[in-house]
Amino acid sequence: MLSQKTIDIVKSSVPVLAAKGTEITKHFYKRMFENNPELLNIFNHTHQELSRQQTALANSLYEAARYIDQLEVIVPAVKQICHKHVSLGVKKEHYSIVGENLLAAMKEVLGDAATDEFIHAWAEAYWAIAKVFIEMEEELYKKAENQPGGWRYFKPFVVTEKVKESSVITSFYLKPKDGGPVPSYLPGQYITVRVKVTGDTYLSNRQYSLSDAPGKGYFRISVKREAEPNKPKGKVSNYLHDHLQVGDEIEISAPAGDFFLNVQDSTPVVLISGGVGITPMMSMLNTIAKENAERSVAFIHAARNEEVHAFKKDVEELVEKLPNASKLFCYDQPIHLENADITGHITKDVLKDYVKNEADYYICGPAPFMKAMITNLTELGIPSEKIHYEFFGPAIKFDQI
Ligand code: HEM
Repeated sequence: MLSQKTIDIVKSSVPVLAAKGTEITKHFYKRMFENNPELLNIFNHTHQELSRQQTALANSLYEAARYIDQLEVIVPAVKQICHKHVSLGVKKEHYSIVGENLLAAMKEVLGDAATDEFIHAWAEAYWAIAKVFIEMEEELYKKAENQPGGWRYFKPFVVTEKVKESSVITSFYLKPKDGGPVPSYLPGQYITVRVKVTGDTYLSNRQYSLSDAPGKGYFRISVKREAEPNKPKGKVSNYLHDHLQVGDEIEISAPAGDFFLNVQDSTPVVLISGGVGITPMMSMLNTIAKENAERSVAFIHAARNEEVHAFKKDVEELVEKLPNASKLFCYDQPIHLENADITGHITKDVLKDYVKNEADYYICGPAPFMKAMITNLTELGIPSEKIHYEFFGPAIKFDQI
């Protein structure tokens, strides 16, 4: 139990954190990586460079400070982070390293404002928050490891097939190197792929959604080659596309993530994706086809054009086969007009045809796309508990997208 004094000091630091939060976390990362460079094997270097991780951690500290006397309020957000941590192999002992460097960074950035009393209160608060994380993560690790074929941290898999799905997306089929069973997962969950890119000192980790239904004896990930003009080239995605071949080994973590289809329910489902956000939707659609073929499902997908559009044929065939399925493909720059069901963007007017009683909406895609879809659905009167979504990349607050 935290004392009232600690609660008061931590809560009163909210304005300081709001103003200096990002500066503190930036300094914290710098000093932590100087003291413990081995942690660069866990953290995403691209996110660090782009400062997105700093924003995510600053936000969560800010939230935690606001709710320090009712930590249950931040539990849903914590849960999502814990899934991410577990997928990256974060260990209990890492919390001491983070805590030590974080408190030192607060002192160094805030100077005289960080009195001994302030630091003491924050040390207590940090461990109260860390305890919530550590316990939840241990639970997730145990659950993953107790599955048939399950494990903790990373395990070697072998690429058994490599399939080009579009001009930019390629699927990799993965099976355990030890020949053991492939654990089940929830459609929508992801794995972390850990690779050492040629010339790098440290390992790189990336999360990829599983793109096929569970129970087929393999994991499938479908990776977009990140190579847009005027944007940094995706280090890991390009490495996987260019260097990872059938027969090669790759280390992966067990499936994790709290964005998944409510498989047990029979409510209508509307799957809305943009670009490579199609990957978790393929897992959901394939699962419905496999386990609940009568279920009402609409598959709405936005892509630039038919060349970059992955799984087009698979979705068309499934929709043909399933009695209550429909699809809508929307291209904003179609090569041949007849290949698009509609052109332009998925507007509120488009979505109004999909407003159904009790329906659940799943959204995945780039942040601006997701923001537009969530706004459209909310304006159409869909309650927030029926709108499920996942951002790729560090969790950021909705109003900062
Ligand atoms: C990601 C908070 C402790 C390693 C994150 C994210 C948040 C966060 C908000 C972004 C989540 C997302 O991407 O969806 C915290 C808080 C901690 C804590 C509040 C302490 C109470 C740790 C520890 C480690 C760690 C001890 C291990 C050294 C990571 C990594 C990521 C992450 C590697 C992914 C970042 C990336 O993509 O580069 N954490 N974290 N965190 N955290 Fe933590």
